Amino acid sequence: MVSGSSKTDVAKRIDTLREEINRHNHLYHTQDSPEIPDAEYDKLFNELISLEEKNPELQTPDSPSLRVGGQPLDKFKKVTHRQAMLSLGNAFEEQDLLDFDKRLKDRLKAESDNLSYVAEPKLDGLAVSLTYQDGLFVQGATRGNGQVGEDITPNLRTIKSLPLKLKGAPDGLIEVRGEVFIDKPSFEAMNREQATREDKVFVNPRNAAAGSLRLLDSSITASRPLRIYIYSTGPIEVDEQLPDTHWGMLQWLKTMGLPINPESKQQKDIKACHQYYTSLLKRRDKLDYEIDGIVFKVDSLELQDTLGYVSRAPRWAIAHKFPAEEATTELLAVDFQIGRTGALTPVARLEPVFVGGAMVSNATLHNMDEVARKGIRIGDTVIVRRAGDVIPEVVSAVESKRPKNAQKITLPEVCPECGSKVIESDDVAVAKCSGGFVCIAQRKEGLKHFVSRRAMNIDGLGEKLVDQLMTKYIVTTPSDLYHLKREELLQLDLVGEKTADNLLAAIEQSKDTTLGRFLFALGIPEVGETTAEQLANHFKTVDALATADLDYFLPRGIEGIGKTRAEAMVALFATEKMPSEGAELTDWLSVNVPKIKPAEVKRILEKFPTAAQLQSLSATDLQGKGGSRVEGVGETMAALIVGFFNNKQNTREIKKLIDAGIHWPTSETTESAPSDDSLANSTFVITGKFADMSRDDIAAGLKAKGAKVTGSVSKNTTALICGEAAGSKLTKAESLGIEIIDEQGLQVLLA
Ligand code: IVH
Repeated sequence: MVSGSSKTDVAKRIDTLREEINRHNHLYHTQDSPEIPDAEYDKLFNELISLEEKNPELQTPDSPSLRVGGQPLDKFKKVTHRQAMLSLGNAFEEQDLLDFDKRLKDRLKAESDNLSYVAEPKLDGLAVSLTYQDGLFVQGATRGNGQVGEDITPNLRTIKSLPLKLKGAPDGLIEVRGEVFIDKPSFEAMNREQATREDKVFVNPRNAAAGSLRLLDSSITASRPLRIYIYSTGPIEVDEQLPDTHWGMLQWLKTMGLPINPESKQQKDIKACHQYYTSLLKRRDKLDYEIDGIVFKVDSLELQDTLGYVSRAPRWAIAHKFPAEEATTELLAVDFQIGRTGALTPVARLEPVFVGGAMVSNATLHNMDEVARKGIRIGDTVIVRRAGDVIPEVVSAVESKRPKNAQKITLPEVCPECGSKVIESDDVAVAKCSGGFVCIAQRKEGLKHFVSRRAMNIDGLGEKLVDQLMTKYIVTTPSDLYHLKREELLQLDLVGEKTADNLLAAIEQSKDTTLGRFLFALGIPEVGETTAEQLANHFKTVDALATADLDYFLPRGIEGIGKTRAEAMVALFATEKMPSEGAELTDWLSVNVPKIKPAEVKRILEKFPTAAQLQSLSATDLQGKGGSRVEGVGETMAALIVGFFNNKQNTREIKKLIDAGIHWPTSETTESAPSDDSLANSTFVITGKFADMSRDDIAAGLKAKGAKVTGSVSKNTTALICGEAAGSKLTKAESLGIEIIDEQGLQVLLA
């Protein structure tokens, strides 16, 4: 037995712990601004759990300890909703929205002067109702059929952003409704984890949220990254004057600690509602959760009352749906497309389907590993996804609809374009055509890349023209472009005199370029714009680059010396006076270089025996394995670059291009010292498309402030500058927790 006085002490400690934990939960999950490290939070949490276990009579329904879940249930209890949970009418086009507004005005007549709206993102999750009694969370239920749902209280308690106790709530009953969901980054992380444990992976965040909420074992639910936003009230029985608008209600709920979607906004009229719809549709992919439309609600609660309900939906609200990003259709066939480097991409030929606002008849299957992982077969009914500007992709097959004669998808043994052998390697997912220069598909892609805007920028040489030039053997390599004759062009389909002249002028103009663009245009495997630029800045001439070997790119300095120590030593050698050589120099190094071992001193002096030599070193010369002379060029890329310039065909082609007149300024002025160095020590990566700036301009703007711009995301990246339709770089940055800056943020950064 615990004595009376120490019991109060325990009760007090428990109270303090609960209050503190609740406060940190709110800071972390709702405000996004934690005050203490996770480990410290865990300590508080564990203390609470152990005190409650020792004193079960002090357990309460609002204790944050309940968030870890409890004993598994046999089944869920049924709950009859005090007030039905309704659904919403839909609008698909602007006209539907205008009709909705007109219906309301006709019905409200004079009262419609007060008609304004609240716009809320329509989250794609699961509707739930939460009951608070005297401020305590006592019950939570699914929507069910709208009248009767299931009691999932223990599962809802595990949602960290859901307050178990409302702040400053009046006594009485407060019921609220909201949507439980899993955000996109957490969904991806969760699926990765499921996959490594060889557990079932979920098709989409909605299914994952639904599955997690309906688990009978709430301790598993506790491990799922569920979130919630509250969007309306149910019955409220309190002795307090309540707000008279929906917006006012949301604000009131927010003051009590309930999470409200920060994107929800008041709108003065239906026109403003439509503008909100268009602007959020554009930003849809940037939100970290999935939404399938916008809900518009009449703001005045009095008007809501007057308008009432039809069948199972309120007259005073409507959901304006976004075009669906996923649709099902039939997979008719799979073709293989050959890329610039020979990579084979399986492409699905589909029964045309309207998805994401467009007709889609082709979609990517990425690579054979993906095909295998998704278990897709020809003849399957498949789910196709087209989100924003992203290339349509086949997400999965609907196995229940698989016809008996569905066929496995197999990799061709030879390239469908040139007949060369297809090579599969164990370590990379992509199979490649071994044809290289022989393969017309690779050459076509190479030429398209060569003329593209960010490379040689030859306007007017589109897909169809490239096709004709190559299949008629008028052009076989990029350098042939510079010897094209007007008559040759005029023979082609769709080429008139004007087109021919414009094209010849564009080709002529392209000769005046920069070394960076030229290197990028060459299509060295893995070398993107930024790396090409870095190579140009580093080497200054093509010859210098072409003769650099692996040891040059990745100098092997002194074994055991890492980057930090190498940099510290270089700084030390530059500032201190040291003996010129011999035993004195050995002693000097042993005494003056922090933490240096005798064996290291020996290794250093074997390689660089004099003070003069030591003083001329750069950190990369000293650093052991892992250093690189060119930012962003690691082992793989260095090998590809060296391999490219060791290939005679490539060097001959480069010579031909230069002989044809391609030139660039040969100055050291490529990089002038920045006058504003507010971004010195920052490293950025740029990805995606931007509305108002080119990537070149952005890079130039950042460099002018002293920043570094590199081509690939790593843990050393300060932030990712991310435009529309970003791909793997965004995913990687997210997984590394690197800051993401959008176009607006960029403007602030560059201002
Ligand atoms: S209001 C009486 N607001 O959409 C009003 N619903 O089609 C009923 N939903 O079951 C719902 N976000 O799951 C409302 N901001 C939002 C919403 C929202 C998502 C879902 C909810 C509901 C369904 C109605």
